[in-house]
Amino acid sequence: MISHVKKVYLETFGCQMNVLDSELVLGALEGRGYQRTGQRDEADVVLFNTCSVRANAEHKVYGRLGELSHLKRKHPEVVVGVLGCMAEREGADLLQRFPQVDLLVGPGELDRVPDLIAASRDGNSGPQQALAGDRARRSSTLDAAGDNLERLDLSRSMDAVQRHGSAYVRITRGCNKFCSYCVVPRTRGAEIHRPPDHIVDECRRLVDAGVVEITLLGQTVNHYRFDHGASIVVAGVVQPQVGPGGGAFTRADSSFNVGRKLTRFSDLLARIHEEIPQLQRLRFVTSFPRDFGDDILQVMADSERICNYLHLPVQSGSDRVLRRMNRGYSVSEYRELVARARALVPGVTIASDFIVGFPGEDESDFQQSMDLVRACGFKNSYVFKYSERPDTPAAGRLADDVPEEVKKSRNHRLLAVQAEVSTAVHRQHLDRTVPVLVEGVSPRGNPEATRTQLSGRTVGDLIVLFEGSTDLVGHIVPVAIHEARQLALHGAVAAPAEGPGTP
Ligand code: SAH
Ligand code: SF4
Ligand code: F3S
Repeated sequence: MISHVKKVYLETFGCQMNVLDSELVLGALEGRGYQRTGQRDEADVVLFNTCSVRANAEHKVYGRLGELSHLKRKHPEVVVGVLGCMAEREGADLLQRFPQVDLLVGPGELDRVPDLIAASRDGNSGPQQALAGDRARRSSTLDAAGDNLERLDLSRSMDAVQRHGSAYVRITRGCNKFCSYCVVPRTRGAEIHRPPDHIVDECRRLVDAGVVEITLLGQTVNHYRFDHGASIVVAGVVQPQVGPGGGAFTRADSSFNVGRKLTRFSDLLARIHEEIPQLQRLRFVTSFPRDFGDDILQVMADSERICNYLHLPVQSGSDRVLRRMNRGYSVSEYRELVARARALVPGVTIASDFIVGFPGEDESDFQQSMDLVRACGFKNSYVFKYSERPDTPAAGRLADDVPEEVKKSRNHRLLAVQAEVSTAVHRQHLDRTVPVLVEGVSPRGNPEATRTQLSGRTVGDLIVLFEGSTDLVGHIVPVAIHEARQLALHGAVAAPAEGPGTP
């Protein structure tokens, strides 16, 4: 029998972390000889990298798994895997409902995917074994899991990303915030910060491979903080201490000045900016509105290639609601941060997230969210209807008491106000020529034509649509803006001021 190249189909749901995880998993599988395919029907391995943040994200995956039961009956040799946050949140319950699932792999175990697939194909493991794995590994708090996951990040293939010019780099795993409505701390575990040397190396390798824009990822990205451990200052020279409490000097040596070296988020940004001058755009998401120091804003202001853009989800404009969400800041503190950002970082654009219909949210709470959109001038807001998630503090304590119709109407009204604000923000760019990183063909364009509608982003993350050759994808080009609509700017490629360089 002629063995054929094994094909893997992977569909991704959820946030940027999942997009990056999927890229890493596919890279690892390609390293084992797999080929990617966009056709589920021809795949030997079908994977879903899943999200649990809202019920509808999970329903989409149930739907996909339902579709597969037929395929699985006809081709029992096809391996079906559920990766990511749903695998972690639902565990064995998912297997009961969907016996067609062979693999369940949480975010803390993704480095094991190739081995688990191989074991499943050899018939050496049932789903139970893959699921049980090492339960401790499923909590990404363990150092062992941290090291293995770190290897997965470090071994990433540089090929996949260069076509689009843009890449994600993880700086922090997990989240320590425990907002009352949110599953993420349970699915991704506690915060672990990656070593700055690893992050800088990864950025450098991506840029060497042709990437022009890097987005640093963390659930609360501004909380990045790497503790290098104790170091000892001897005659002004900082020496790392060897091993915990061991080595030539110990903490007990009172004649030496024992200090700790920390890399804060602002230090990391400054370091990447300085050490990788070829990197044209550096971004980061998502910022948490607490503990956002001026040091970060100052580095943004001082560093030409750090994009003046913040994704700073507020969730609600009402203090009462924010308290019940356990967000840890007040509306006035949030507004003070927005004012500080606007004062220190010229032209900064800010995007936000809102949850409408949180338990107990009344019309006056909601009106305060409407007011906040107007007051802060967000360039856009992602608005979500509250979705009660099992095992979250809110699900245990607070009744999901805002009727679906009211949630829908608030969602609609908030987006309508945001649309006016977005249009006003866009208008400020009329008749200006701005550098745009071309991301791809606009869904509304015709992919067959050579000159087609392209879509790209400004430094401030505004979407720009314009005509041009698909060769421009992955490059930064100057675009003259002549129309400002609610969702995007429209323009035309402008001749560069001088030479072939891009501004
Ligand atoms: N770490 C980021 C957001 C992660 S989840 C932060 O804290 O800002 C992305 C967005 O999903 C959140 O900002 C929130 O608006 C929304 N979200 C999270 N849990 C939700 C839930 N249970 N129901 C509705 N929306 C939710
Ligand atoms: Fe969820 Fe809050 Fe953490 Fe964001 S900060 S991931 S909303 S718990
Ligand atoms: Fe969803 Fe998990 Fe991201 S729950 S939002 S994929 S961290």
